[in-house]
Order: sequence, then structure tokens, then C-alpha cells
Amino acid sequence: MDTSQLLILIFLVITPAVYSETTKPQCWISSMKTFNLSEGEAFYFIHVDLYDAKITDDEITWYKNYAQNDSEQISTDENKTVHYHGKALFFLNLRPENSGFYSARREGPDVRCQNFRVRINVFKEKNKTEYLYGAIENSDRNKKVPCPEPVSDTCKMLKGKLTWEKDFKLLQGHDEASLWIYNATKDDEGIYTCTCTWTHNHKVYNSSGSKRLIHKDLTVHRLEIISPIEKELFADEGFEIKLNCSVFCGTNVERYCHTSWHVNGNPFNQTVGYSQSKKTVVEKPSKNTISTAILTIEKVSAKDFQTEFKCAGVGFYKTTYRTLTLKRRESIIPLVIGAVCVLLFCVFAAILIKFFAIDLALFFRPYFPLNSQNNDSRVYDAYVVYQMQNMDKLTENMLGQFITNNLPSVLEKKCGYRLFIHGRDDIPGEDHLELVEDRMRQSRRLMVILTPGLGSGSEITDQHPGLPQNSVIGGYDWQVGQSRV
Ligand SMILES: *[C@@H]1O[C@H](CO)[C@@H](O)[C@H](O)[C@H]1NC(C)=O
Ligand SMILES: *[C@@H]1O[C@H](CO)[C@@H](O)[C@H](O)[C@H]1NC(C)=O
Ligand SMILES: *[C@@H]1O[C@H](CO)[C@@H](O)[C@H](O)[C@H]1NC(C)=O
Ligand SMILES: *[C@@H]1O[C@H](CO)[C@@H](O)[C@H](O)[C@H]1NC(C)=O
Ligand SMILES: *[C@@H]1O[C@H](CO)[C@@H](O)[C@H](O)[C@H]1NC(C)=O
Ligand SMILES: *[C@@H]1O[C@H](CO)[C@@H](O)[C@H](O)[C@H]1NC(C)=O
Ligand SMILES: *[C@@H]1O[C@H](CO)[C@@H](O)[C@H](O)[C@H]1NC(C)=O
Ligand SMILES: *[C@@H]1O[C@H](CO)[C@@H](O)[C@H](O)[C@H]1NC(C)=O
Repeated sequence: MDTSQLLILIFLVITPAVYSETTKPQCWISSMKTFNLSEGEAFYFIHVDLYDAKITDDEITWYKNYAQNDSEQISTDENKTVHYHGKALFFLNLRPENSGFYSARREGPDVRCQNFRVRINVFKEKNKTEYLYGAIENSDRNKKVPCPEPVSDTCKMLKGKLTWEKDFKLLQGHDEASLWIYNATKDDEGIYTCTCTWTHNHKVYNSSGSKRLIHKDLTVHRLEIISPIEKELFADEGFEIKLNCSVFCGTNVERYCHTSWHVNGNPFNQTVGYSQSKKTVVEKPSKNTISTAILTIEKVSAKDFQTEFKCAGVGFYKTTYRTLTLKRRESIIPLVIGAVCVLLFCVFAAILIKFFAIDLALFFRPYFPLNSQNNDSRVYDAYVVYQMQNMDKLTENMLGQFITNNLPSVLEKKCGYRLFIHGRDDIPGEDHLELVEDRMRQSRRLMVILTPGLGSGSEITDQHPGLPQNSVIGGYDWQVGQSRV
């Protein structure tokens, strides 16, 4: 058993014995209040439980340090610096030796026995924090500093006059029981003292009490993930990537703002090739708090494209998440190559068509039979004329062969054109000139077979004029072709 326990035990043993001597056993005991006061001031005390009571001096007796060897009874002599009058206890000029435990015993014919207790501490220095009646600490825009109750009550009971000081400097023009500070800032922090100046027996006394004002910045809790925004992030395999988890937590909430990356549902765990850095920034002057966690993947691997990365923002009240997955970036090179290939193919095809249009047309002719539903009423596609005179036998045979076999076999059988071949299709007995004119009118084209050995062509040009290349003459398209037989 140590000394403190021993003392408590002794106290417990002694106390009831003491009280049983001086008070009736059922005497009610009030709560204890402590006041730290400064030397030289006055103090006017009414116990809160006696506030509304009407008490005569005979009804109550005050003691200092009751039941101790330096115990003394308080006088009712108004000329004494410490005295009582009815329910009020007066300290007119506080001295350190006034410090102590004061108790009152109230007993009367109509009242139950009561005990009131108060502890007074008197300090020498005025600005000690021990005198403070607590602190006012909030983030309110407009702050209320109430005058400590013993002081404001003194003024009310004794019709005193209130003044206010900030950091022990007088605030002009303030005599209110509660001081309001509007649009408070850090500069308004400090010790606010209200002093009541009151008169007693034609003498002026001061009683004061102070409170400390602490300005706290407004705190707003929010939780918004500002990065990542997208659910997917394009990445290149084999390259480094940084994943940015950024969370806005609100205003002035530095201690309640955290972010981290979760990998496949688990909090990020340091592994080779992966690292995480975190920091929390408080912007000035807004005090907006943003926490950021950067997950660095040194080399993105195939596995990372299957991994679920989760950005977690932890605020004061809750936690929010946003999931991010990596996606392979589609390279632009294959696209470009593809486009160039298509372009080249188109150019090649265009060239091919340009040079082999006729061959292609002929090649596809069997599959796409000629649409003979031409709008005009002509019967033949071509009227074939040739020159047989002034020819040697060989040429004549070749020409005959060409006209009767080669030409029809290709143009008629293969390509489906209808030809009027002079000498094959003309009906004997018809008027030659009339026939030529009529058939030519019914033909869309005139095909003139030119044979080697043709002189100036004067013999045939009496019927058909000179043949300039690719021109329009007499309503016909003139084109020159060559065929080897
Ligand atoms: C009161 O008692 C304490 C010990 O409890 C002693 O130190 C002190 O001198 C006493 N005072 C008087 C005035 O007898
Ligand atoms: C208090 O002192 C004044 C003079 O200073 C005197 O006139 C008065 O009678 C005294 N009062 C008592 C109760 O002793
Ligand atoms: C309190 O007062 C003492 C002297 O009166 C002074 O030296 C000290 O700086 C003061 N402290 C504050 C916090 O004002
Ligand atoms: C009075 O001062 C003491 C230190 O001497 C301190 O422990 C106590 O909290 C103060 N009481 C009040 C009400 O300020
Ligand atoms: C407090 O600030 C608001 C605007 O922020 C202003 O409208 C108002 O007048 C200010 N009040 C005082 C008492 O300065
Ligand atoms: C009371 O306080 C005021 C200012 O706070 C001071 O001027 C005056 O001298 C003080 N009076 C006494 C009796 O202490
Ligand atoms: C992370 O994202 C936030 C919000 O988009 C941005 O302000 C910050 O600069 C980014 N940090 C890095 C390291 O990219
Ligand atoms: C990190 O991961 C390993 C295995 O992957 C595990 O054993 C270890 O407990 C983890 N550490 C933390 C802090 O989660």
C-alpha cells in the first residue's frame, strides 16, 4: 500500500467523523467549484444553488478550511476584505493567502441542512492561463465570446459596468455580456477578458474573467475521385506506366484524406517492378485537400492487362473506389500499312482497267451477255465493209477467212454482237445502193476492214471519207484498231 492510498483511506475514515460532529448526518453537500483568480481583484461569489434563495446572515455560516487546524470562520463585517452577506461571499482584495477551501453551512427552522463548497486559488500574474474560464474553439464565421458567469452575474447583481479587453488591451465601446466577433479570422484569436467594475460601500472594485478564443478553419468533408476518370487506360506492353489515383477530400481535412491502389482486391503490396508513392496536398488559401497515390509499373506485362487496379479514396466518413483496367494500345502502323496497300491496289486496278479494258470486257462478256435492249431501234451493232479489189490472191484469201470466220466467231459467237457483213448478209437481188444505205442506218457502228496494200484509199473513200483517229464523223464514232490474221 503506497502513501496516496493510505491518505485516501485515512480521509475516508476521518471525513464522516468530522461531519458527524459539526453537521447533522443527513446534511446535503453541494458540488465543488474551483476559481482561479488574480491578485488585487475582487470576487463576488454566490453559489449557483443559492442564486434565487433569500437568505439572512443568521441562516448561514461560512468557514475557510473547515475542519482543518487552520480553520477560521468568515465574518459578516463589511469592512473586512473577506466577508459574507446573506448568500454572497465577498473577496474585496484578493491575496495569495486567501487561497483555500471555503464552505458554508445553511441551517434554519424551515430549511434542510445544506453544505456549499468552493475552492479559491489566487495567482500573482494576470496573464496566466490558469485564470481562463475555458476556451472557445470552433469554425463559426461569427463567434460569440460570453463573459464568464461569475463576472457577468456580479455585474447583474451589483449593477456594475462591463468592459472588454483583448489580450489585456481595452476594446472600446463594448459593455455587452457576450462579445460577438464577426467574420472571424486567425487574427481574432487571443485572450478575451471581461471586467466588471462595481461599487460596494462607496468603493470601486474590479472582477474579471477571461476566455481564450481559438479560430478553427472551416472543415468540409467531401470525397470525390478526380483521377482516374476513365475505366480503361491504354498501355504499351514493355513500357513504363504511371497510374494516378487522385482524390479530393474537402476543405481543411488533411488528417482525413488518404488514397491507395488496390491490386486484384488487395491493398498494394510492394513487389519488384511495381512501386507506389503517396502524398497529400493542401491547396492555399482554399485549404482544399487532395491526396494522390501514383502506382508505377516499370514494364507493363501481359499479366497487367488481366489485372484489376482499384483506386481507393479514404475520407473521414467513408471510402470510395474506382476500378481501372489496362488495355493494349492498338498500334497505328498496321493501320497505315493497310491503308497504303488498299490505295496501291486501287491504283493498280485502275491502271489495269485502263490498259486492258477491252480485254476485260471481252473476257467477261460470256458471263454478262450483251444487253441488246438498246433504246434505239437499230438492228445491227456493226456494219462491216471491206475492199476486195486490186488484191493479190493470198491477201484475198486471208481477208475472206478473216471476214467469214475470225470476225463472226469472236464478235458474234463469243461477244454476242450482231454484225451485218457485206457479201454475207445481203440478199441477192436487192438494190445495192439502197441496201447499203438502209443497213448502215440500221447499224450502230461502221466497221471498215483495211487491208495492206491499200493505196491512198481513194477507191474506198468515195463511199467513206478519210479516217482520222477517234473522231466523230457523220454521226459515227471513228476508232482505229489493228488485227493480225
Ligand atoms: C496544521 O497541520 C499541518 C500538518 O497537517 C502542519 O504542518 C501545520 O503546521 C499545522 N498548522 C497549524 C496552524 O497548526
Ligand atoms: C467600517 O468602517 C467605517 C470607517 O472606515 C466605519 O464607519 C464603520 O462603522 C465600520 N463598520 C463596521 C461594521 O465596523
Ligand atoms: C505574462 O506576464 C509576464 C509578466 O507580467 C510576462 O513576462 C509574460 O510575457 C506574459 N505572458 C504572456 C503570454 O503574455
Ligand atoms: C486552476 O489552476 C490549476 C493550476 O494551478 C489548474 O490545474 C486548474 O485547471 C485551474 N482551474 C481552472 C478552472 O482553470
Ligand atoms: C462579413 O463578410 C461578409 C461577406 O463575406 C460581408 O457581407 C459582411 O458585411 C461582413 N460582416 C462584417 C460585420 O464585417
Ligand atoms: C479596475 O480596472 C480598470 C481598468 O480595467 C482600472 O482602470 C481600475 O484602476 C481598476 N480598479 C481597481 C480598483 O482595481
Ligand atoms: C494526377 O491527377 C490529378 C488530377 O487529374 C492531377 O492534378 C495531378 O497532377 C496528377 N498527378 C500526376 C503525377 O500525374
Ligand atoms: C504481400 O504479399 C505477400 C505474398 O504475395 C504476402 O505474403 C504478404 O503478407 C503481403 N504483405 C502485405 C503487407 O500485405
